[in-house]
Amino acid sequence: MKVLLVGGGGREHALAWALTGSGLLSKLWVAPGNAGISDIADCVAIGAEDVPALVAFATAQAVDLVVAGPEAPLTLGLADACAAAGLRCFGPSAAAARLEGSKTFTREVTSAAGVPGAEWAQFTEAAAARAYIRQKGAPIVVKADGLAAGKGVVVAATVEEAEQAVTEIMEDRVHGAAGASILIEECLLGQEISFFALCDGETALPMAAAQDHKRVGDGDVGPNTGGMGAYSPPPAFTPALEAEVMDSIIRPTLKEMAKRGTPFRGVLFAGLMLTEAGPKLIEYNVRFGDPECQVLMLRLQSDLLAALLAACDGELDRFTLRWSAEAAMVVVMAARGYPGAYAKGSVIEGLEQAAQVPGAQLFHAGTARNEQGDLVAQGGRVLGVAASGATLAAARDAAYAAVDAVRWPEGFCRRDIGWRALGH
Ligand code: AMP
Ligand code: GLY
Repeated sequence: MKVLLVGGGGREHALAWALTGSGLLSKLWVAPGNAGISDIADCVAIGAEDVPALVAFATAQAVDLVVAGPEAPLTLGLADACAAAGLRCFGPSAAAARLEGSKTFTREVTSAAGVPGAEWAQFTEAAAARAYIRQKGAPIVVKADGLAAGKGVVVAATVEEAEQAVTEIMEDRVHGAAGASILIEECLLGQEISFFALCDGETALPMAAAQDHKRVGDGDVGPNTGGMGAYSPPPAFTPALEAEVMDSIIRPTLKEMAKRGTPFRGVLFAGLMLTEAGPKLIEYNVRFGDPECQVLMLRLQSDLLAALLAACDGELDRFTLRWSAEAAMVVVMAARGYPGAYAKGSVIEGLEQAAQVPGAQLFHAGTARNEQGDLVAQGGRVLGVAASGATLAAARDAAYAAVDAVRWPEGFCRRDIGWRALGH
């Protein structure tokens, strides 16, 4: 089978790596890919958001499957354009991708489906939002409704901080148009878990859970990032909790989406809070997490391509997924300054030595080759240094041994990935 994978980050390197392990694969293109992906697949110079060019390429090459990595092409209608061109696409329609694109839409769907989540209210006027905040008290969460590059959420410890967030989001429009409408939510307390379910519109198959580390600094301090490291499985997420999440969160959502005429096909990524009152939904994403995908792919034993095809073809009710009992961890190496401003072009060495650490697997994110052929940093998150191990501690030791073999003075990483399970 011929496959076009869309995207060029660490998640897509992990997906490409898993796809090349499939006996069904005959040819893999990745648009636009990165330096690491180009070692295992053909990279095509088409941007991940250039939907017409992606569909034209897939049509010209008669690909059997288009796989969307990031959410942007999906919210722009990649799956719809593929369907119109007679192409199979793994990923939801633009209408179903609103589960990630609009927080208000998600809360409407999940409230209708009876999914446990934070108490919430929507506001388009700052004065009404401030009155609600004063009535509810702190801690309280203020969110811009639209996509705000993961930055539109303020978990406010005081009423003043929450009111300030309303001013910045609604009146100063620090996130632009995404601040025209805001949500105010009850603050949920507990451990955060990323949980993934494969969906074909009707059937949802549990994949696995991972725990991400969103803050830039050790001890979970500093600004939010796309994710500085992850591990799977998180011990706090027991099989009983997984069953509860499938029954109370994932399946009711899938049913409600089908009822609305916008069935969800693809991977549903539930951001969960494990509260004292049970697991509650924080948010949905309509794609694999990055860097969560890297550890999921290390643990997946089934053929990924066969699984994605079953999701596209409505055959998940006859499909089973097998997972390794081993643990996996990924440590993200980022350019100094990230998530703020950072320099591009610094040379990265030592990857061959890192790859020789037993159990290690390197996934590239923002990498490229310069004119001399050196590997250089080209983005904020640059490398995902991953490893499997019989235990989480063994996976961590291998991942950090590989990190220590990388020679890149202009990069940094967190040293405490996995601390909730392993201690500092
Ligand atoms: P989101 O953009 O919705 O993923 O939110 C970003 C982060 O804010 C989440 O990963 C949580 O850590 C936090 N967060 C969002 N909503 C809530 C909530 N209702 N209660 C507590 N924390 C929240
Ligand atoms: N790592 C979190 C995300 O992919 O949204």
